[in-house]
Amino acid sequence: DQIEKGGYDHFMLKEIHEQPKAITDTYRGRMLPIENRIKMSSIEDNLDKFLNANRIIIIACGTSWHAGLVGEYLFEDMARIPVEVEYASEFRYRNPIITNKDVVIAISQSGETADTLAAIKLAKSKGAFVYGVCNVVGSSIARETHSGAYTHAGPEIGVASTKAFTTQITVLTLIALKLGKANGSLAPHTFKNYIQKMQLIPRQVEELLNIDNHVKEIAAVYKDAKNCLYLGRGFNFPVALEGALKLKEISYIHAEGYPAAEMKHGPIALIDENMPIFVIATNKGHYEKVVSNIQEIKSRAGKIIAVVTEGDVQVKEIADHVIEIPDTEEALTPLLTTIPLQLLSYHIAVMLGKNVDQPRNLAKSVTVE
Ligand code: G6P
Repeated sequence: DQIEKGGYDHFMLKEIHEQPKAITDTYRGRMLPIENRIKMSSIEDNLDKFLNANRIIIIACGTSWHAGLVGEYLFEDMARIPVEVEYASEFRYRNPIITNKDVVIAISQSGETADTLAAIKLAKSKGAFVYGVCNVVGSSIARETHSGAYTHAGPEIGVASTKAFTTQITVLTLIALKLGKANGSLAPHTFKNYIQKMQLIPRQVEELLNIDNHVKEIAAVYKDAKNCLYLGRGFNFPVALEGALKLKEISYIHAEGYPAAEMKHGPIALIDENMPIFVIATNKGHYEKVVSNIQEIKSRAGKIIAVVTEGDVQVKEIADHVIEIPDTEEALTPLLTTIPLQLLSYHIAVMLGKNVDQPRNLAKSVTVE
């Protein structure tokens, strides 16, 4: 067991630290900077289906569903294709409207989730083209889909998904970029810039892993919280959801993720001096709006832990703690903002003496309904 954990105390920590390599493995051979193109035969062979699709429907569960939400922002922004993201468990039972002009993307780490598998079968029976994004090679979902791409993250043992999430986002980014280039939504120089920035991501994740002690100090301050709120906007709204999920899964602290602007329609009522609020406030997307959300929290005495871009000035002045991420394009920030939130949940759970790798009541793969 100790050998398998590669010197780390838990599989989860090992897997968090594997992300620079996992992300590189995911785009290796697919992202070709010198040729300035993305090579994915599973997309090239089905390009007409993607480009002529009325819409893309993404189906998944749990953390994979959060990756799907990031995918929605990526596909719509980069390729201008309408996207809907559905919980597989809801989709399969609500008599969904699907035609042979729809492309369905099913995302699953294990490739064995019962609801996702059933949703795929339903979509296929209605004539949709179904594409899978799986981690486990040869899994049921990989076999059941018409085509697909593996994430190549390597085995994920910790029940709380970490590297599967960032590599799913990596695959979705590659597809979005490829489709955006193919249908002309992305100008050649924009495409090139994204490829260059993507190449920096593994090293930037590495940098974030090096500030682990800072994150640990923050974890020590908030480990006894009873409730936490996670806020983000745009590309980082799904990261807020995932941050909250990670915390509740392994530390059993109640946490909610919310789009920052929705805070005023409910969660704001919960804010007092006992409420830690994790806010993602990167420098490009809606920065000023998030700053004003942070001010609203401050004026209600909430504790603010902000994930900001390095060099940030404004948020630093108001937040109780800041965690800096390296600069990148807004669309790529989820690959970075996720990292400190994973570490934070990990440290809190360890400090509370919880079973990090096998939290109570949860399973790595839910193969029954
Ligand atoms: C379980 C796991 C989660 C995972 C979800 C979906 O709930 O504990 O980590 O995100 O299933 O699993 P999948 O294998 O389909 O991605």
